[in-house]
Amino acid sequence: MSNYEEEEEVELLEDDEGSLNESESDEDSSSVLPASFSPFKTSIIPVLIINKKLKIIHANEACEQMFSSFTHLTGKYFFDLFGKAFELDDARKIRETIINGGNGFSWKGSAQIKTRTTVSVQIRVYIFPLEMDLKTTSDFVVMFDDFTEENKKLLRSVFLSLLEASKLKDNDTGKHIVRVNEYSKRLAQELFSIGGEAYKRIDADFIDNIGFLAAMHDVGKIGTPDDILNKEGPLSDWEWAVMREHTKNGAFILSTYPHPMAKEIALSHHEKWNGTGYPFQLEGDMIPLAARIVTIADVYDALRMERSYKPALGHEISMQKILEDSGSHFDPKLIDIVKTIDGDFCKIYDTHTD
Ligand SMILES: [Fe+2]
Ligand SMILES: [Fe+2]
Repeated sequence: MSNYEEEEEVELLEDDEGSLNESESDEDSSSVLPASFSPFKTSIIPVLIINKKLKIIHANEACEQMFSSFTHLTGKYFFDLFGKAFELDDARKIRETIINGGNGFSWKGSAQIKTRTTVSVQIRVYIFPLEMDLKTTSDFVVMFDDFTEENKKLLRSVFLSLLEASKLKDNDTGKHIVRVNEYSKRLAQELFSIGGEAYKRIDADFIDNIGFLAAMHDVGKIGTPDDILNKEGPLSDWEWAVMREHTKNGAFILSTYPHPMAKEIALSHHEKWNGTGYPFQLEGDMIPLAARIVTIADVYDALRMERSYKPALGHEISMQKILEDSGSHFDPKLIDIVKTIDGDFCKIYDTHTD
């Protein structure tokens, strides 16, 4: 079960009638543990009870554990803690269910809890009356099911299969893509720790995503003819034109991935900071940050690897070449940071050798 390390700031969702939280007295008669709550007390399923004023009156141990950073669940208003986790429309439906018994006194849906320092957590939420007699019920059970891992596993397994298929065609090794993931993740972690305005978009999700998606940069080569992909000599102009299509093909293939970073990496990992890359000659900050990171990782690793047309280069000479292209091929601000962690790049290469 996940523990959420940061408490979300209070965010009240308001409608025409005012706050979702009733402003009446906090006094209520339901603060005594109802007998019908007993089966949930020791359940491994996180459960809390809320009254008609949307106030949490009890939380079982599994729930306290799941939201261990939300100190004192009991006594707080549901939407003060979970307001940001629901879509606005869902929040309204929940309110309608609890206050007016709408939706057949029950609601089921999903929520997402997100903080900058922890990866997003996907939760299924079930809300239903605590008592069977709907006329007298005033309290509701809220049951949580954290499905983050199974969701991520399922999603990523589909795209990993795709990656395996593309590896059958591309002559880059399996270790190359593992290393590109690792360099990209390491650089993203460094940007996260630097923080500030420039890297405010980098959070735990960004780091987690780039550590998986960087490997997908060349997935579009699945559509590149073998004779072009495996040609020993230099490519002709039209062969290069076909080769360059792998960026657009990759973006097309990854367009169903639920995070735009997948598409951004595939489409823009051959763009250059000075606008001379492909497919769209984007320049500077127009190139998505994730793609600018992966470009550096991909080129560094390509330099280190032996290829049919070149020998493997050592770390120092590879870094020297990367630094020479700062501001032309690569984002100079990122290269300044790479310089401070280049030892880790070297370690990643040495740890995942072919
Ligand atoms: Fe590529
Ligand atoms: Fe690559």
